Amino acid sequence: MSNELIQLIKQRRSIRRFQDKPVERELIEEIIQAGRYAPSDRNRQPWRFIIITNKEYIHDLSEKVKEELKKLLRKKINVPKELKERENKILLAAAAYAKEDHIFFDAPVLILVLTDDKLFSTESTACCAQNMMLAAYSLGIGSCWIGLANVLNLNKKYLKDIGVPEGYHIAAAIVFGYPAEEKMKLPIRKIGDIIKWID
Ligand SMILES: Cc1cc2nc3c(=O)[nH]c(=O)nc-3n(C[C@H](O)[C@H](O)[C@H](O)COP(=O)(O)O)c2cc1C
Repeated sequence: MSNELIQLIKQRRSIRRFQDKPVERELIEEIIQAGRYAPSDRNRQPWRFIIITNKEYIHDLSEKVKEELKKLLRKKINVPKELKERENKILLAAAAYAKEDHIFFDAPVLILVLTDDKLFSTESTACCAQNMMLAAYSLGIGSCWIGLANVLNLNKKYLKDIGVPEGYHIAAAIVFGYPAEEKMKLPIRKIGDIIKWID
């Protein structure tokens, strides 16, 4: 049993190499519409969108992310618990010190999905983000959620400069663009011990 939507869900992959070609505005708008139709707690729709299509601006933000990552890695006290895991530290350092843009991957479009601190806003916004990535895929546009970009939230000046309203923060930074890579192989998906039925 399958259908087009299920196929799309199964075939979507994170894309990290993009063609040097802008994405048409109508397509970006369509992707945002798909986000707006996501379910949300009490239908509060706690999201805002900042769409950046200026590649220099995206590159500049990438440098800011790197700076914040370096600051985090230098921390000796109040080290976030996630950074105590060696694997995470290596991942962050690789992105922070890379010469190339291993943050936003030179993407032509970056959408920041913002939310507030209210109950279930994070969950609602994640639904919105996934809708956007699936819609993009259905339109031939590749995407990748960039969790590392959340470090921008640590610097209030950056948020102000970007135009994040008071009381909001970046919940999902997602890059979009025409793919320059064709990913055939699906990363292994867990199956065995993640499902329990209670009949
Ligand atoms: C919340 C979240 C944060 C992520 N952060 C990053 C990131 O910072 N950099 C990156 O290259 N990929 C990031 N990804 C993409 C994942 O690495 C990717 O979804 C995962 O490896 C599975 O591959 P697939 O999306 O191709 O199925 C993130 C994905 C999610 C859902």
